[in-house]
Amino acid sequence: MKEKVENLCSEIKGKMENVSNLNELYNLKLEYTGKKGIITELQSGIKDATDKKEYGIQLNILKTFFNDSYESKYNELNELELNKKLESEKIDVTLPSKRLREGSKHPMTRIQEELEDYFVSMGYDVFDGPEIETDENCFQKLNLPIGHPARDAQDTFYLENEYEKFLLRSQTSTSQVRVMEANKEKGPIRIICPGKVYRRDDDATHSHQFMQMEGLVIDENVSMADLKGTLEGFSKKLLGEKTEVRFRPSFFPFTEPSVEVDVTCFKCGGKGCPLCKQTGWIEVLGAGMVHPNVLRYCGYDPEKYQGFAFGTGLDRFAMFKFGITDIRTIYGNDIRFLNQFSRKDEENEIK
Ligand code: DAH
Repeated sequence: MKEKVENLCSEIKGKMENVSNLNELYNLKLEYTGKKGIITELQSGIKDATDKKEYGIQLNILKTFFNDSYESKYNELNELELNKKLESEKIDVTLPSKRLREGSKHPMTRIQEELEDYFVSMGYDVFDGPEIETDENCFQKLNLPIGHPARDAQDTFYLENEYEKFLLRSQTSTSQVRVMEANKEKGPIRIICPGKVYRRDDDATHSHQFMQMEGLVIDENVSMADLKGTLEGFSKKLLGEKTEVRFRPSFFPFTEPSVEVDVTCFKCGGKGCPLCKQTGWIEVLGAGMVHPNVLRYCGYDPEKYQGFAFGTGLDRFAMFKFGITDIRTIYGNDIRFLNQFSRKDEENEIK
């Protein structure tokens, strides 16, 4: 038996050396330890052995030899295969990468977000009203009855409807009506409403679609001084601490008194330049104290409540900030134009 085992061991050794892949190794395992394998058969031969003890010892030597050689071959082949796989999946880190296209925020989004951040930090809520409005909300409740001459400046797009006359809002002032009617003296109001508005306009500085931002504050003790302080703070924050604010008397049907607000030109600091047409001032806002009629139409008692409102065109800010000369490019959606406003100069906000 001893001799037989020695022969088998050298046979196994030889065969193992010739095995070149896992499949062959598996077949070799079957040949020796499978159901009809050489070792399996020797195992069942123990019952006929004369010296069972010696037979058992020799059989164990053979089994251990086979298992050890199998295991080391298995590990060797596994490592070989892994290396082969690694080799075939090798990545060349020096290859140039595919270019990732970096997006950028639309210039109007940037202006809007900056203004929202400021007013939210002052305790205002952001209200988002619908762009399709009724004539009542857009004009009548804002003290612009049917036939009022001030409507001419805000001619818009009308959507005929069987029951009511709908139109595309020509001003974000409609949000004043919606917010007051939703509150009905339930407490003070402090909102801004940035959004799209529409008018029948089309030239380099006027677009049929543009953006405004409305502000409305209603409370029991609000005065023109609050309006002035708010607008001064807002202008300084946005355009720089040195900015001065000038109020000029004006007329809006929904405010009384009404003002137009100018700021010192942020390009020349007030000295006079082409941007401010040599005046040193740039008009940025319309504002005033909410007209008692508007309060009444929207469910507020003007004897008890006062408020101020302001409305500004956001496109003007964008045009000044980014040096845009034609408002229509803002809405043209030309990617070459929009790509100019990459994130890199985002720190460079209106200062
Ligand atoms: N809605 C006005 C416009 O589109 C702007 C405006 C002026 C809004 C005075 C106001 C305001 O709230 O008080 O021209």
